[in-house]
Amino acid sequence: MEREEIYREFEEMDKRASLGGGIDKIEKQHANGHMTARERINILLDKGTFNELDKFVTHRCNDFGMEKKQIAGDGMVTGYGKIDGRLVFVYAYDFTAHGGSLSETNAAKIVKVQQLALKNGAPIIALNDSGGARIQEGVSSLAGYASIFYNNTIASGVIPQISAILGPCAGGACYSPALTDFIFMVKENSHMFITGPDVVKTVTNEEVGKEELGGALTHSSKSGVTHFMCSTEEETLMSIRELLSFIPSNNMDDAPLVPCSDDIHRVNEALQTVIPEDPNMPYDIKDIIEPVLDNQYLFEVMSHFAKNAVVGFGRLNGRSVGIVANQPAFLAGVLDIDASDKIARFIRFCDCFNIPVITFEDVPGFLPGTMQEHNGIIRHGAKIVYAYAEATVPKITLITRKAYGGAYIVMGSKLIGGDVNLAYPQAEIAVMGAEGAVNILYRKATDEKKQEIISEYESKFSNPYRAAERGLIDEVIMPRDTRYKLIQALEMAHNKNQSNPPKKHGNMPL
Ligand code: HXC
Repeated sequence: MEREEIYREFEEMDKRASLGGGIDKIEKQHANGHMTARERINILLDKGTFNELDKFVTHRCNDFGMEKKQIAGDGMVTGYGKIDGRLVFVYAYDFTAHGGSLSETNAAKIVKVQQLALKNGAPIIALNDSGGARIQEGVSSLAGYASIFYNNTIASGVIPQISAILGPCAGGACYSPALTDFIFMVKENSHMFITGPDVVKTVTNEEVGKEELGGALTHSSKSGVTHFMCSTEEETLMSIRELLSFIPSNNMDDAPLVPCSDDIHRVNEALQTVIPEDPNMPYDIKDIIEPVLDNQYLFEVMSHFAKNAVVGFGRLNGRSVGIVANQPAFLAGVLDIDASDKIARFIRFCDCFNIPVITFEDVPGFLPGTMQEHNGIIRHGAKIVYAYAEATVPKITLITRKAYGGAYIVMGSKLIGGDVNLAYPQAEIAVMGAEGAVNILYRKATDEKKQEIISEYESKFSNPYRAAERGLIDEVIMPRDTRYKLIQALEMAHNKNQSNPPKKHGNMPL
Protein backbone atom coordinates (compact mmCIF):
# COMPACT_ATOMS: atom_id res chain seq x y z
CA MET A 1 0.00 0.00 0.00
CA GLU A 2 1.23 3.45 -0.86
CA ARG A 3 2.13 5.74 1.98
CA GLU A 4 -0.65 8.19 1.08
CA GLU A 5 -3.16 5.37 1.04
CA ILE A 6 -2.00 4.15 4.47
CA TYR A 7 -2.47 7.63 5.86
CA ARG A 8 -5.87 7.96 4.24
CA GLU A 9 -6.99 4.63 5.63
CA PHE A 10 -5.95 5.70 9.12
CA GLU A 11 -7.78 9.02 8.77
CA GLU A 12 -10.94 7.25 7.67
CA MET A 13 -10.76 4.77 10.54
CA ASP A 14 -10.15 7.61 12.96
CA LYS A 15 -13.07 9.61 11.60
CA ARG A 16 -15.38 6.61 11.84
CA ALA A 17 -14.25 5.96 15.41
CA SER A 18 -14.94 9.61 16.29
CA LEU A 19 -18.56 9.09 15.36
CA GLY A 20 -19.06 6.45 18.06
CA GLY A 21 -22.38 4.72 17.41
CA GLY A 22 -22.91 6.73 14.19
CA ILE A 23 -24.76 9.78 12.93
CA ASP A 24 -28.26 8.45 13.71
CA LYS A 25 -27.37 7.73 17.32
CA ILE A 26 -25.67 11.12 17.66
CA GLU A 27 -28.83 12.81 16.39
CA LYS A 28 -30.92 10.83 18.85
CA GLN A 29 -28.58 11.86 21.66
CA HIS A 30 -28.97 15.52 20.65
CA ALA A 31 -32.74 15.15 20.31
CA ASN A 32 -32.81 13.87 23.90
CA GLY A 33 -31.09 17.07 25.04
CA HIS A 34 -27.67 15.48 25.53
CA MET A 35 -24.22 16.06 24.09
CA THR A 36 -22.03 13.20 22.93
CA ALA A 37 -19.06 12.06 25.00
CA ARG A 38 -16.54 13.80 22.75
CA GLU A 39 -18.55 17.04 22.62
CA ARG A 40 -18.55 17.05 26.40
CA ILE A 41 -14.82 16.47 26.61
CA ASN A 42 -14.16 19.29 24.14
CA ILE A 43 -16.05 21.72 26.36
CA LEU A 44 -14.51 20.41 29.57
CA LEU A 45 -10.87 20.63 28.54
CA ASP A 46 -8.69 23.49 27.34
CA LYS A 47 -9.08 23.78 23.58
CA GLY A 48 -7.01 21.30 21.58
CA THR A 49 -5.47 19.56 24.58
CA PHE A 50 -7.36 16.24 24.50
CA ASN A 51 -5.39 13.09 23.68
CA GLU A 52 -7.67 10.14 23.24
CA LEU A 53 -6.42 6.70 24.24
CA ASP A 54 -7.73 3.32 23.14
CA LYS A 55 -9.89 4.76 20.40
CA PHE A 56 -9.81 1.50 18.44
CA VAL A 57 -10.53 -0.84 21.32
CA THR A 58 -13.43 -3.18 20.60
CA HIS A 59 -15.27 -5.68 22.76
CA ARG A 60 -14.62 -9.43 22.67
CA CYS A 61 -18.16 -10.66 23.23
CA ASN A 62 -19.53 -13.29 20.86
CA ASP A 63 -22.90 -13.86 22.50
CA PHE A 64 -26.31 -12.59 21.40
CA GLY A 65 -24.98 -11.50 18.01
CA MET A 66 -22.53 -9.04 19.57
CA GLU A 67 -19.74 -10.23 17.27
CA LYS A 68 -21.59 -8.38 14.48
CA LYS A 69 -21.95 -5.20 16.53
CA GLN A 70 -18.45 -3.80 16.77
CA ILE A 71 -17.98 -0.09 17.40
CA ALA A 72 -14.46 1.33 17.66
CA GLY A 73 -13.93 2.61 21.19
CA ASP A 74 -16.76 0.38 22.43
CA GLY A 75 -18.84 3.13 24.01
CA MET A 76 -16.13 4.70 26.11
CA VAL A 77 -13.93 7.73 25.41
CA THR A 78 -10.84 7.99 27.60
CA GLY A 79 -7.71 10.08 27.64
CA TYR A 80 -5.93 13.08 29.06
CA GLY A 81 -5.79 16.81 28.51
CA LYS A 82 -5.60 20.06 30.41
CA ILE A 83 -7.82 22.33 32.46
CA ASP A 84 -6.40 25.81 32.98
CA GLY A 85 -3.10 24.37 31.80
CA ARG A 86 -3.09 21.57 34.42
CA LEU A 87 -3.06 17.88 33.51
CA VAL A 88 -6.31 15.93 34.04
CA PHE A 89 -7.53 12.49 33.00
CA VAL A 90 -11.04 11.91 31.67
CA TYR A 91 -13.33 9.04 30.88
CA ALA A 92 -16.70 9.58 29.28
CA TYR A 93 -19.38 6.98 28.63
CA ASP A 94 -20.54 7.25 25.01
CA PHE A 95 -24.28 6.62 25.01
CA THR A 96 -24.34 6.45 21.20
CA ALA A 97 -22.48 3.11 21.30
CA HIS A 98 -24.39 0.28 22.98
CA GLY A 99 -26.05 2.84 25.28
CA GLY A 100 -22.72 3.53 26.95
CA SER A 101 -23.05 0.17 28.66
CA LEU A 102 -19.99 -1.09 30.49
CA SER A 103 -18.16 -3.95 28.81
CA GLU A 104 -15.12 -5.83 30.01
CA THR A 105 -12.96 -3.98 27.49
CA ASN A 106 -14.15 -0.47 28.20
CA ALA A 107 -13.81 -1.13 31.93
CA ALA A 108 -10.16 -1.89 31.14
CA LYS A 109 -9.93 1.46 29.34
CA ILE A 110 -11.20 3.21 32.45
CA VAL A 111 -8.79 1.34 34.69
CA LYS A 112 -5.94 2.35 32.40
CA VAL A 113 -6.68 6.08 32.84
CA GLN A 114 -7.35 5.64 36.56
CA GLN A 115 -3.92 4.13 36.98
CA LEU A 116 -2.26 6.76 34.79
CA ALA A 117 -3.94 9.50 36.83
CA LEU A 118 -2.73 7.92 40.05
CA LYS A 119 0.84 7.42 38.80
CA ASN A 120 1.04 10.94 37.43
CA GLY A 121 -0.71 12.67 40.30
CA ALA A 122 -3.52 14.30 38.33
CA PRO A 123 -7.27 14.62 38.90
CA ILE A 124 -9.63 12.27 37.10
CA ILE A 125 -13.05 13.25 35.82
CA ALA A 126 -15.79 10.77 34.93
CA LEU A 127 -18.62 11.80 32.63
CA ASN A 128 -21.37 9.24 33.22
CA ASP A 129 -24.16 8.48 30.75
CA SER A 130 -24.78 4.76 30.59
CA GLY A 131 -27.31 1.95 30.48
CA GLY A 132 -25.20 0.15 33.11
CA ALA A 133 -23.63 -3.27 32.90
CA ARG A 134 -23.40 -4.60 29.31
CA ILE A 135 -26.17 -7.15 29.60
CA GLN A 136 -24.74 -9.46 26.90
CA GLU A 137 -21.47 -9.83 28.83
CA GLY A 138 -22.83 -10.92 32.20
CA VAL A 139 -20.29 -11.29 34.96
CA SER A 140 -17.41 -9.95 32.84
CA SER A 141 -19.09 -6.58 32.89
CA LEU A 142 -19.74 -6.80 36.63
CA ALA A 143 -16.08 -7.62 37.17
CA GLY A 144 -15.26 -4.51 35.15
CA TYR A 145 -17.23 -2.39 37.60
CA ALA A 146 -15.46 -4.08 40.48
CA SER A 147 -12.06 -3.09 39.11
CA ILE A 148 -13.23 0.52 38.64
CA PHE A 149 -14.56 0.68 42.22
CA TYR A 150 -11.31 -0.79 43.50
CA ASN A 151 -9.28 1.88 41.74
CA ASN A 152 -11.69 4.62 42.90
CA THR A 153 -11.03 3.51 46.46
CA ILE A 154 -7.26 3.24 46.12
CA ALA A 155 -7.09 6.68 44.49
CA SER A 156 -9.26 8.27 47.19
CA GLY A 157 -7.31 10.92 49.06
CA VAL A 158 -4.42 10.75 46.58
CA ILE A 159 -5.89 12.46 43.52
CA PRO A 160 -9.16 14.39 43.28
CA GLN A 161 -11.89 12.33 41.61
CA ILE A 162 -14.89 14.10 40.14
CA SER A 163 -18.03 12.62 38.63
CA ALA A 164 -20.66 14.21 36.45
CA ILE A 165 -23.94 12.38 35.88
CA LEU A 166 -25.16 13.48 32.47
CA GLY A 167 -27.73 10.80 31.69
CA PRO A 168 -28.79 7.55 33.32
CA CYS A 169 -26.66 5.98 36.06
CA ALA A 170 -28.37 2.96 37.53
CA GLY A 171 -27.74 -0.03 39.74
CA GLY A 172 -24.32 -0.75 41.12
CA ALA A 173 -22.90 1.73 38.58
CA CYS A 174 -23.85 4.47 41.06
CA TYR A 175 -21.12 3.29 43.39
CA SER A 176 -18.29 4.57 41.27
CA PRO A 177 -19.49 8.20 41.47
CA ALA A 178 -20.38 7.63 45.11
CA LEU A 179 -16.75 6.71 45.81
CA THR A 180 -15.45 9.90 44.21
CA ASP A 181 -15.02 13.27 45.91
CA PHE A 182 -17.67 15.34 44.15
CA ILE A 183 -20.74 14.52 42.08
CA PHE A 184 -22.39 16.93 39.64
CA MET A 185 -25.87 16.36 38.21
CA VAL A 186 -27.96 18.13 35.57
CA LYS A 187 -31.48 19.20 36.50
CA GLU A 188 -34.16 17.04 34.86
CA ASN A 189 -31.64 15.36 32.56
CA SER A 190 -29.69 12.95 34.73
CA HIS A 191 -30.66 10.17 37.11
CA MET A 192 -29.06 7.96 39.71
CA PHE A 193 -30.76 5.09 41.43
CA ILE A 194 -29.95 1.63 42.67
CA THR A 195 -33.23 0.35 41.23
CA GLY A 196 -35.40 2.26 38.77
CA PRO A 197 -39.12 3.12 39.08
CA ASP A 198 -40.28 -0.23 37.59
CA VAL A 199 -38.38 -2.32 40.12
CA VAL A 200 -39.51 -0.04 42.93
CA LYS A 201 -43.11 -0.60 41.87
CA THR A 202 -42.67 -4.38 41.71
CA VAL A 203 -40.91 -4.70 45.05
CA THR A 204 -42.60 -2.07 47.20
CA ASN A 205 -45.71 -1.20 45.19
CA GLU A 206 -44.61 2.41 45.41
CA GLU A 207 -45.31 4.60 42.37
CA VAL A 208 -42.57 7.11 41.76
CA GLY A 209 -41.18 8.84 38.68
CA LYS A 210 -37.48 8.73 37.86
CA GLU A 211 -37.01 12.45 38.56
CA GLU A 212 -38.45 12.18 42.04
CA LEU A 213 -36.67 8.90 42.71
CA GLY A 214 -33.21 9.88 41.57
CA GLY A 215 -33.11 13.24 39.80
CA ALA A 216 -30.70 16.07 40.51
CA LEU A 217 -33.04 17.88 42.88
CA THR A 218 -33.66 14.74 44.93
CA HIS A 219 -29.98 13.96 45.26
CA SER A 220 -28.89 17.51 45.96
CA SER A 221 -31.61 18.37 48.47
CA LYS A 222 -32.78 15.11 50.05
CA SER A 223 -30.23 12.30 49.84
CA GLY A 224 -27.07 14.41 49.85
CA VAL A 225 -25.59 12.07 47.23
CA THR A 226 -24.76 14.88 44.83
CA HIS A 227 -22.80 18.05 45.56
CA PHE A 228 -23.73 20.28 42.64
CA MET A 229 -26.94 20.67 40.63
CA CYS A 230 -26.53 22.48 37.32
CA SER A 231 -29.08 23.61 34.73
CA THR A 232 -27.31 22.35 31.62
CA GLU A 233 -24.51 19.99 30.63
CA GLU A 234 -22.41 22.96 29.59
CA GLU A 235 -22.84 24.62 32.98
CA THR A 236 -21.88 21.33 34.63
CA LEU A 237 -18.65 21.07 32.65
CA MET A 238 -17.73 24.70 33.34
CA SER A 239 -18.43 24.21 37.07
CA ILE A 240 -16.07 21.22 37.12
CA ARG A 241 -13.37 23.48 35.68
CA GLU A 242 -14.07 26.03 38.39
CA LEU A 243 -14.02 23.44 41.18
CA LEU A 244 -10.60 22.27 40.01
CA SER A 245 -9.26 25.82 40.29
CA PHE A 246 -9.63 25.53 44.09
CA ILE A 247 -7.96 22.17 44.55
CA PRO A 248 -4.50 20.72 44.04
CA SER A 249 -3.68 18.03 41.50
CA ASN A 250 -2.78 15.50 44.18
CA ASN A 251 -2.27 15.07 47.91
CA MET A 252 1.41 16.09 47.75
CA ASP A 253 0.64 19.36 46.03
CA ASP A 254 -0.85 22.71 47.04
CA ALA A 255 -3.90 24.23 45.41
CA PRO A 256 -3.04 26.77 42.69
CA LEU A 257 -2.12 30.18 44.07
CA VAL A 258 -4.21 32.82 42.31
CA PRO A 259 -2.84 36.38 42.15
CA CYS A 260 -4.93 38.43 44.57
CA SER A 261 -6.06 41.89 43.51
CA ASP A 262 -8.33 42.31 46.54
CA ASP A 263 -6.73 44.40 49.32
CA ILE A 264 -5.75 42.05 52.13
CA HIS A 265 -6.17 44.90 54.65
CA ARG A 266 -9.68 45.63 53.45
CA VAL A 267 -11.72 46.72 56.49
CA ASN A 268 -15.42 46.03 56.18
CA GLU A 269 -17.55 48.39 58.25
CA ALA A 270 -20.75 46.65 57.18
CA LEU A 271 -19.67 43.56 59.12
CA GLN A 272 -20.10 45.51 62.37
CA THR A 273 -23.88 45.34 62.00
CA VAL A 274 -24.59 42.01 60.31
CA ILE A 275 -25.25 40.22 63.58
CA PRO A 276 -28.56 41.41 65.05
CA GLU A 277 -28.55 42.91 68.53
CA ASP A 278 -31.23 40.42 69.57
CA PRO A 279 -29.30 37.13 69.89
CA ASN A 280 -32.36 35.17 68.88
CA MET A 281 -32.75 36.88 65.53
CA PRO A 282 -31.43 35.04 62.47
CA TYR A 283 -28.96 36.44 59.95
CA ASP A 284 -27.30 34.96 56.90
CA ILE A 285 -23.82 33.67 57.74
CA LYS A 286 -22.88 34.20 54.07
CA ASP A 287 -23.20 37.94 54.77
CA ILE A 288 -20.11 37.48 56.92
CA ILE A 289 -18.28 34.84 54.88
CA GLU A 290 -18.51 36.44 51.44
CA PRO A 291 -17.31 39.97 52.28
CA VAL A 292 -14.24 38.49 53.94
CA LEU A 293 -13.09 36.32 51.01
CA ASP A 294 -11.07 37.49 48.01
CA ASN A 295 -13.41 39.24 45.58
CA GLN A 296 -16.22 38.44 48.04
CA TYR A 297 -16.65 35.06 46.36
CA LEU A 298 -17.70 31.75 47.89
CA PHE A 299 -17.94 28.65 45.69
CA GLU A 300 -20.57 26.82 47.66
CA VAL A 301 -20.71 23.02 47.79
CA MET A 302 -23.96 21.13 48.59
CA SER A 303 -25.92 24.37 48.72
CA HIS A 304 -29.31 22.61 48.66
CA PHE A 305 -28.61 20.00 51.33
CA ALA A 306 -28.64 20.56 55.10
CA LYS A 307 -28.93 24.30 54.69
CA ASN A 308 -28.27 24.76 58.41
CA ALA A 309 -24.62 24.28 57.46
CA VAL A 310 -22.63 26.01 54.73
CA VAL A 311 -19.52 24.53 53.13
CA GLY A 312 -17.52 25.66 50.14
CA PHE A 313 -14.30 27.01 48.75
CA GLY A 314 -12.96 30.53 48.66
CA ARG A 315 -9.61 32.28 48.60
CA LEU A 316 -7.77 34.46 51.07
CA ASN A 317 -4.83 36.38 49.64
CA GLY A 318 -4.97 34.06 46.64
CA ARG A 319 -4.79 30.83 48.65
CA SER A 320 -7.59 28.27 48.57
CA VAL A 321 -9.47 27.74 51.80
CA GLY A 322 -12.29 25.41 52.76
CA ILE A 323 -15.13 27.23 54.48
CA VAL A 324 -17.30 25.48 57.06
CA ALA A 325 -20.09 27.36 58.78
CA ASN A 326 -23.30 27.10 60.72
CA GLN A 327 -26.19 28.96 59.12
CA PRO A 328 -28.32 30.85 61.69
CA ALA A 329 -30.78 31.73 58.90
CA PHE A 330 -31.86 28.08 58.63
CA LEU A 331 -33.07 26.07 61.66
CA ALA A 332 -31.08 28.57 63.76
CA GLY A 333 -27.88 26.90 62.53
CA VAL A 334 -28.49 23.82 64.66
CA LEU A 335 -26.39 20.71 64.01
CA ASP A 336 -28.36 17.66 62.89
CA ILE A 337 -27.52 14.39 61.16
CA ASP A 338 -27.38 15.79 57.64
CA ALA A 339 -25.36 18.86 58.64
CA SER A 340 -22.92 16.60 60.50
CA ASP A 341 -22.37 14.42 57.45
CA LYS A 342 -22.01 17.45 55.18
CA ILE A 343 -19.47 19.16 57.42
CA ALA A 344 -17.42 16.07 58.27
CA ARG A 345 -17.06 14.91 54.69
CA PHE A 346 -16.05 18.37 53.49
CA ILE A 347 -13.39 18.75 56.19
CA ARG A 348 -11.97 15.36 55.28
CA PHE A 349 -11.72 16.37 51.63
CA CYS A 350 -9.88 19.56 52.59
CA ASP A 351 -7.53 17.63 54.84
CA CYS A 352 -6.75 15.05 52.14
CA PHE A 353 -5.76 17.83 49.78
CA ASN A 354 -3.92 20.32 51.98
CA ILE A 355 -6.63 22.95 51.99
CA PRO A 356 -6.85 24.93 55.27
CA VAL A 357 -10.24 24.92 56.99
CA ILE A 358 -11.83 28.14 58.18
CA THR A 359 -14.87 27.75 60.40
CA PHE A 360 -17.52 30.40 61.00
CA GLU A 361 -19.44 29.28 64.03
CA ASP A 362 -22.87 30.30 65.29
CA VAL A 363 -24.52 27.20 66.67
CA PRO A 364 -27.13 26.82 69.40
CA GLY A 365 -26.43 23.07 69.81
CA PHE A 366 -27.44 19.71 68.39
CA LEU A 367 -31.05 19.23 67.27
CA PRO A 368 -32.98 17.39 70.00
CA GLY A 369 -35.70 14.75 69.44
CA THR A 370 -36.44 11.11 68.80
CA MET A 371 -36.08 11.48 65.05
CA GLN A 372 -32.47 12.57 65.45
CA GLU A 373 -31.61 10.21 68.30
CA HIS A 374 -33.14 7.16 66.64
CA ASN A 375 -31.38 7.88 63.38
CA GLY A 376 -28.05 8.14 65.13
CA ILE A 377 -27.18 11.78 65.74
CA ILE A 378 -24.59 10.51 68.22
CA ARG A 379 -22.85 8.50 65.52
CA HIS A 380 -23.17 11.23 62.91
CA GLY A 381 -22.27 14.13 65.20
CA ALA A 382 -19.14 12.24 66.22
CA LYS A 383 -17.98 12.43 62.61
CA ILE A 384 -17.50 16.19 62.97
CA VAL A 385 -15.24 15.78 66.00
CA TYR A 386 -13.33 13.05 64.26
CA ALA A 387 -12.87 15.07 61.08
CA TYR A 388 -11.65 18.20 62.86
CA ALA A 389 -9.46 16.36 65.34
CA GLU A 390 -7.81 14.21 62.69
CA ALA A 391 -7.26 17.03 60.19
CA THR A 392 -3.67 18.27 60.14
CA VAL A 393 -4.23 21.22 57.78
CA PRO A 394 -4.35 24.70 59.35
CA LYS A 395 -7.66 25.11 61.18
CA ILE A 396 -8.96 28.55 62.06
CA THR A 397 -12.25 28.99 63.89
CA LEU A 398 -14.17 32.22 64.34
CA ILE A 399 -17.13 32.27 66.73
CA THR A 400 -19.47 34.94 65.43
CA ARG A 401 -22.20 34.47 68.02
CA LYS A 402 -23.42 31.27 69.69
CA ALA A 403 -21.19 28.37 70.63
CA TYR A 404 -23.06 26.16 73.00
CA GLY A 405 -22.36 22.79 74.57
CA GLY A 406 -21.21 19.85 72.50
CA ALA A 407 -21.70 21.91 69.37
CA TYR A 408 -19.07 24.39 70.65
CA ILE A 409 -16.62 21.55 71.11
CA VAL A 410 -17.13 19.87 67.78
CA MET A 411 -16.93 22.98 65.60
CA GLY A 412 -13.14 23.24 65.56
CA SER A 413 -12.68 24.29 69.17
CA LYS A 414 -9.21 24.84 70.56
CA LEU A 415 -8.73 21.48 72.23
CA ILE A 416 -9.78 19.42 69.26
CA GLY A 417 -6.98 21.08 67.38
CA GLY A 418 -7.91 24.64 66.41
CA ASP A 419 -4.71 26.46 65.43
CA VAL A 420 -6.21 29.92 65.79
CA ASN A 421 -9.50 30.45 67.60
CA LEU A 422 -11.11 33.86 67.26
CA ALA A 423 -14.37 35.33 68.53
CA TYR A 424 -16.41 38.46 68.00
CA PRO A 425 -17.24 40.52 71.10
CA GLN A 426 -20.86 39.33 70.94
CA ALA A 427 -19.85 35.63 71.08
CA GLU A 428 -21.67 33.50 73.65
CA ILE A 429 -19.67 30.46 74.75
CA ALA A 430 -21.34 28.29 77.38
CA VAL A 431 -22.72 24.86 78.17
CA MET A 432 -26.21 25.97 77.22
CA GLY A 433 -28.41 29.05 76.87
CA ALA A 434 -29.20 31.00 80.03
CA GLU A 435 -32.85 30.00 80.23
CA GLY A 436 -32.20 26.28 79.83
CA ALA A 437 -29.38 26.41 82.35
CA VAL A 438 -31.44 28.21 84.99
CA ASN A 439 -34.42 25.88 84.50
CA ILE A 440 -32.16 22.96 85.36
CA LEU A 441 -30.20 24.51 88.20
CA TYR A 442 -33.09 26.44 89.79
CA ARG A 443 -36.10 24.38 88.79
CA LYS A 444 -38.06 25.24 91.91
CA ALA A 445 -37.23 28.95 92.03
CA THR A 446 -39.91 31.60 91.53
CA ASP A 447 -40.17 33.21 88.09
CA GLU A 448 -38.78 36.42 89.53
CA LYS A 449 -35.75 34.63 90.99
CA LYS A 450 -35.23 32.76 87.74
CA GLN A 451 -35.16 36.03 85.78
CA GLU A 452 -32.55 37.38 88.16
CA ILE A 453 -30.33 34.32 87.75
CA ILE A 454 -30.82 34.30 83.97
CA SER A 455 -29.44 37.85 83.89
CA GLU A 456 -26.52 36.81 86.07
CA TYR A 457 -25.81 33.78 83.87
CA GLU A 458 -26.00 35.92 80.73
CA SER A 459 -23.61 38.51 82.05
CA LYS A 460 -21.19 35.78 83.15
CA PHE A 461 -21.31 33.46 80.15
CA SER A 462 -22.91 35.24 77.18
CA ASN A 463 -19.58 36.64 76.07
CA PRO A 464 -16.24 35.40 74.79
CA TYR A 465 -14.18 36.48 77.81
CA ARG A 466 -14.46 33.36 80.02
CA ALA A 467 -13.06 31.37 77.11
CA ALA A 468 -10.46 34.07 76.38
CA GLU A 469 -9.33 34.04 80.04
CA ARG A 470 -8.55 30.34 79.63
CA GLY A 471 -6.78 30.70 76.29
CA LEU A 472 -9.56 28.77 74.56
CA ILE A 473 -10.12 31.85 72.43
CA ASP A 474 -6.80 33.30 71.22
CA GLU A 475 -8.12 36.69 70.25
CA VAL A 476 -11.35 38.64 70.40
CA ILE A 477 -11.65 40.66 67.19
CA MET A 478 -13.86 43.34 65.73
CA PRO A 479 -16.07 42.07 62.89
CA ARG A 480 -14.75 44.80 60.57
CA ASP A 481 -11.21 43.38 60.84
CA THR A 482 -12.12 39.77 59.99
CA ARG A 483 -10.50 39.58 56.55
CA TYR A 484 -7.03 40.69 57.56
CA LYS A 485 -7.16 38.71 60.82
CA LEU A 486 -7.96 35.51 58.94
CA ILE A 487 -5.28 36.18 56.33
CA GLN A 488 -2.68 36.72 59.06
CA ALA A 489 -3.72 33.55 60.89
CA LEU A 490 -3.52 31.63 57.64
CA GLU A 491 -0.07 33.00 56.87
CA MET A 492 1.11 32.16 60.38
CA ALA A 493 -0.05 28.54 59.96
CA HIS A 494 1.07 28.19 56.35
CA ASN A 495 4.07 26.01 57.15
CA LYS A 496 2.26 24.02 59.82
CA ASN A 497 3.81 20.61 60.04
CA GLN A 498 1.80 18.14 62.05
CA SER A 499 1.23 14.44 61.63
CA ASN A 500 -0.84 11.93 63.55
CA PRO A 501 0.66 8.68 64.90
CA PRO A 502 1.30 6.11 62.17
CA LYS A 503 -1.59 3.69 61.78
CA LYS A 504 -3.22 1.62 59.07
CA HIS A 505 -6.24 3.89 59.29
CA GLY A 506 -8.51 5.15 62.03
CA ASN A 507 -11.96 3.78 62.73
CA MET A 508 -14.14 6.75 61.95
CA PRO A 509 -17.76 6.52 63.12
CA LEU A 510 -19.71 5.89 59.89
C1 HXC B 1 -26.37 -3.47 26.61
C2 HXC B 1 -27.69 -1.63 26.37
C3 HXC B 1 -27.81 -1.49 27.75
C4 HXC B 1 -27.14 -2.43 28.57
C5 HXC B 1 -28.91 0.10 26.85
N1 HXC B 1 -28.39 -0.63 25.85
N2 HXC B 1 -28.57 -0.41 28.02
N3 HXC B 1 -26.97 -2.61 25.82
N4 HXC B 1 -26.44 -3.41 27.96
N5 HXC B 1 -27.19 -2.35 29.90
C6 HXC B 1 -28.52 -0.43 24.42
C7 HXC B 1 -29.92 -0.63 23.92
O1 HXC B 1 -30.14 -1.98 23.61
C8 HXC B 1 -29.88 0.23 22.66
O2 HXC B 1 -29.19 -0.50 21.67
C9 HXC B 1 -29.02 1.39 23.07
O3 HXC B 1 -28.26 0.95 24.17
C10 HXC B 1 -29.82 2.59 23.54
O4 HXC B 1 -30.77 2.17 24.48
P1 HXC B 1 -32.31 2.59 24.39
O5 HXC B 1 -33.06 1.71 25.33
O6 HXC B 1 -32.74 2.64 22.97
O7 HXC B 1 -32.24 4.10 24.93
P2 HXC B 1 -33.28 4.87 25.83
O8 HXC B 1 -34.67 4.64 25.33
O9 HXC B 1 -32.78 6.26 25.92
O10 HXC B 1 -33.20 4.18 27.28
C11 HXC B 1 -32.00 4.27 28.04
C12 HXC B 1 -32.07 3.33 29.26
C13 HXC B 1 -32.48 1.92 28.80
C14 HXC B 1 -33.08 3.90 30.25
C15 HXC B 1 -30.71 3.34 29.92
O11 HXC B 1 -31.66 1.53 27.71
C16 HXC B 1 -32.36 0.89 29.87
O12 HXC B 1 -33.25 0.78 30.74
N6 HXC B 1 -31.31 0.08 29.79
C17 HXC B 1 -31.06 -0.99 30.71
C18 HXC B 1 -30.65 -0.43 32.04
C19 HXC B 1 -30.31 -1.52 33.01
O13 HXC B 1 -31.21 -2.18 33.58
N7 HXC B 1 -28.99 -1.82 33.10
C20 HXC B 1 -28.51 -2.82 33.94
C21 HXC B 1 -28.52 -2.17 35.33
S1 HXC B 1 -27.82 -3.22 36.50
P3 HXC B 1 -29.39 -0.31 20.13
O14 HXC B 1 -28.56 -1.41 19.50
O15 HXC B 1 -30.84 -0.43 19.87
O16 HXC B 1 -28.87 1.04 19.83
C22 HXC B 1 -26.29 -2.82 36.45
C23 HXC B 1 -25.53 -3.58 37.41
C24 HXC B 1 -24.24 -2.90 37.62
O17 HXC B 1 -25.84 -2.01 35.76
C25 HXC B 1 -23.63 -3.52 38.80
C26 HXC B 1 -22.32 -2.93 39.06
C27 HXC B 1 -21.75 -3.44 40.33
